[in-house]
Amino acid sequence: MERPRKFYITTFGCQMNEHDSEVMAGMLLEKGFTAVRERKEADVAIINTCSIRENADKRFFGTLGQLKRRKMENPDFLVCVCGCMMQQQHVIDTIKAKYPWVDIIFGTHNIHQLPQLLENALSEKKKQIEIWPGSSDIVEGLPCKRLHQSKALVNIMFGCNNFCTYCIVPYTRGRERSRKPEEILREVKSLVTDGVKEVMLLGQNVNSYRGEGGVDFAGLIYMLNRVEGLERIRFMTSHPKDLSDRLIQAFIDCEKLCKNIHLPVQSGSSRILKAMNRHYDREQYLTLVDKLRQAVPGITMSTDIIVGFPGETEEDFQETLDLVRRVRYDSAFTFLYSIRKGTPAEKFEEQIPEEIKHQRFNRLVDLVNSISAEKNAEYKDTVQKVLVEGPSKTGSRTFAGRTDGFKLVNFRGAASMTG
Ligand code: 5AD
Ligand code: SF4
Repeated sequence: MERPRKFYITTFGCQMNEHDSEVMAGMLLEKGFTAVRERKEADVAIINTCSIRENADKRFFGTLGQLKRRKMENPDFLVCVCGCMMQQQHVIDTIKAKYPWVDIIFGTHNIHQLPQLLENALSEKKKQIEIWPGSSDIVEGLPCKRLHQSKALVNIMFGCNNFCTYCIVPYTRGRERSRKPEEILREVKSLVTDGVKEVMLLGQNVNSYRGEGGVDFAGLIYMLNRVEGLERIRFMTSHPKDLSDRLIQAFIDCEKLCKNIHLPVQSGSSRILKAMNRHYDREQYLTLVDKLRQAVPGITMSTDIIVGFPGETEEDFQETLDLVRRVRYDSAFTFLYSIRKGTPAEKFEEQIPEEIKHQRFNRLVDLVNSISAEKNAEYKDTVQKVLVEGPSKTGSRTFAGRTDGFKLVNFRGAASMTG
């Protein structure tokens, strides 16, 4: 029997996970593995998990269940699981007890060990588990197989120190660690040499980036703005409490910084924001939005909103609707609150019944969608510059790209326009 060589990665969750998967693919390609387009063609299946909401958990266990038969038919088929869920002990216990056919389990701080773990699994023929509870180090210089030709995801920091009471991320991704500015600069320059025109700077809270030599997030933007050949800079995600005046000034000074911001509000009620441990209230958030819009005319905005947080009353929810009407987001990601084991909000009383959560959720989505449609209609009959990403999801002859403000545009085009 030949050694398993063909891999397929399934990725759940955010852009950080997407990027981790790009790095895993890069490492495996470097070791002589080949990537295949579908999991059924692979002899190494890797599942990169997300634990942000209950849905993601369920989908993961569903996928694991599907792989059982493959494993029974072919014992050389390797199942590897990684990502945020692996940082939770109860998940590891469940996998060991109910999904014993999993071969390799590794955590968010152990991604660089994947090639070694695969080697060990193949030579020792036994289960490999490597999960560090945390890490103060950042492994630099890992290869990466980008999903897109002309745009790239670039981590600038890892982890989160904020402990919003509903959120699992501080437990699964550990404390904040910032990459060195010169490492980021080196990576971006090399991406540009490779044809990249747009970078998305990633971090759970990029506004608290603190690089060596005291470089703050705005400072990093000014640095990257000078990279020749780079055309666009974006970032994700911003915590409102840490958004500095210097960053607002960077929007004015740095022509490459896209006029778009994702600014999660989570709730429009100051009472709920306090219970969420967000460190800002409704008024402070609205003031920040005004300040941004005054300084950066035409800036587009998106947000994240949770409905049904414990204790949320109809009045609190009305305040969220009202805030959405005031801000008029270009788009918003809306979430049903879901209990996460080990977070403070798990223990909060007054959990909201599913039915009320769903009903509020639907009302919010209707509002968000109608505002988005109105916002998009403002672009009718205008000419916009888009970075062409490739074929669109809507049809064989349509292509897709994003405007500076991150609006997705589908249009008739040709493959040669990509990039
Ligand atoms: N329930 C629902 N939504 C959540 N988010 C984070 N944790 C939870 C949770 N327990 C949402 C927040 C965050 C986004 C990435 O996911 O809105 O900004
Ligand atoms: Fe979670 Fe809050 Fe950190 Fe965002 S800032 S990752 S919501 S704890």
